[in-house]
Amino acid sequence: MAELLGIRGLQAAYGQAQALFDISLELAEGEVITLLGRNGMGRSTTVKCLFGLLPAKAGSISFGGERIERLPCHEVARRGLGLVPEGRQIFADLTVEENLVATARAGCGKQRRWNLKRVYEFFPRLAERRQNMGAQLSGGEQQMLAISRALMTNPSLLVLDEATEGLAPVARADIWRALHELKREGLSMIVIDKNIQSLMTLADRHYVIEKGRVAWSGGSQQLRDDPALVHRYMGV
Ligand SMILES: Nc1ncnc2c1ncn2[C@@H]1O[C@H](COP(=O)(O)OP(=O)(O)OP(=O)(O)O)[C@@H](O)[C@H]1O
Ligand SMILES: [Mg+2]
Repeated sequence: MAELLGIRGLQAAYGQAQALFDISLELAEGEVITLLGRNGMGRSTTVKCLFGLLPAKAGSISFGGERIERLPCHEVARRGLGLVPEGRQIFADLTVEENLVATARAGCGKQRRWNLKRVYEFFPRLAERRQNMGAQLSGGEQQMLAISRALMTNPSLLVLDEATEGLAPVARADIWRALHELKREGLSMIVIDKNIQSLMTLADRHYVIEKGRVAWSGGSQQLRDDPALVHRYMGV
């Protein structure tokens, strides 16, 4: 399969404090990978660099054959990267529908095009709530909205940072079901989440990040076969 994303030797810092020392990873078209690790190890920082929200100090990021590590966020999005950010960050004082059309974009991916109709079929709950304000939604509905908003940009790679964080079990299950469906459609994804069991079912491969470096990478079966590894790097 063709490489869609390649990060090589990525380094980044917040002021004087270096957070990423050496992040390298690849993702092929249609693949789902995860970034695993304990709190504060550099997963969200890697995402910020990928989206041009934090400058890379060193290293390269190529996406669809093009170098993107120096591009601003809107240019990265224009090339087909969709972000479901940590903390959802939907517009609380816009309606569901306004949230969705605010980010809609033609897209350049090979996947079937996303539009309002399709999003409402995918998450019927959002169709029922289309005139409600973002602030009036439950956590699960807000998360559906955050995912839908990213889908409306028709990304060829969707990145989800803690998409099930703080949700009730039923709402979590809805999100995992949605991600499985997106994978079946061939959408490439990077998923960050605390639920390792769910990640092992969904993802093809995993990267463990420890103190700003890739400490391990491998497939879901390798992870399942090595509980000591999961314990060492994830503390569970
Ligand atoms: N805005 C910021 N300013 C300064 N330091 C930061 C900032 N954001 C993160 N850091 C630091 O960078 C390191 C990596 O944080 P990051 O947010 O990437 O962690 P993470 O792997 O996403 O974990 P989690 O989301 O569970 O906290 C941590 O030491 C963190 O304290
Ligand atoms: Mg994080």
